Amino acid sequence: MATRERLIRVLRAHDIDAVVAIDAAASNDERRAYYERKFEAILHPRHNINTSIVCEIDGRVAGFLMGDIYTGEYGIPQASATIDTLGVHPDFQHHGIGADMLDQFMMNMKGAGVNRVYTLVNWDDFALERFFSRRGFAPSRRINLEYRLP
Ligand SMILES: CC(C)(COP(=O)(O)OP(=O)(O)OC[C@H]1O[C@@H](n2cnc3c(N)ncnc32)[C@H](O)[C@@H]1OP(=O)(O)O)[C@@H](O)C(=O)NCCC(=O)NCCS
Repeated sequence: MATRERLIRVLRAHDIDAVVAIDAAASNDERRAYYERKFEAILHPRHNINTSIVCEIDGRVAGFLMGDIYTGEYGIPQASATIDTLGVHPDFQHHGIGADMLDQFMMNMKGAGVNRVYTLVNWDDFALERFFSRRGFAPSRRINLEYRLP
């Protein structure tokens, strides 16, 4: 891995197959329709900034991070960002790709004037929680409320 060429770049429309495959490998679920909608929103010309990135290893997309920037939503006056999906193909996990993408995303967000980055982790997803916690994420002062429709 050390000798292989690693490139982090902005997500593009042609990354859809790789992203769907990475997600399917990690979750055992094909979510093409979901990702088609997400790509449409992310790459829409009126969408503010495309903050989503991918990591290529020797020209193959090995991981992706989808994020967004918010200004003024939810009563938060400062610019903030979210990470809503992060995935690394099982063949490439534990080689620092997730950490590299997170570093790049944080650098981009700093450049965009963001001072808080939020993400949601399922309470029992201990691996993902550990990944974020080791990289400085901590429980937020905002709480996530849920209402279950009958
Ligand atoms: C969580 C996830 C994104 C992390 O990606 P990753 O590329 O494996 O992450 P990294 O390699 O940067 O870090 C993972 C671990 O590997 C270790 N690592 C990094 N480089 C390493 C290397 N060269 N050799 C050995 N270990 C290494 C890191 O120290 C880290 O351990 P830590 O969290 O205890 O510090 C990835 O495992 C994944 O896609 N998981 C399944 C999908 C998922 O749950 N997605 C979220 C739902 S949307």
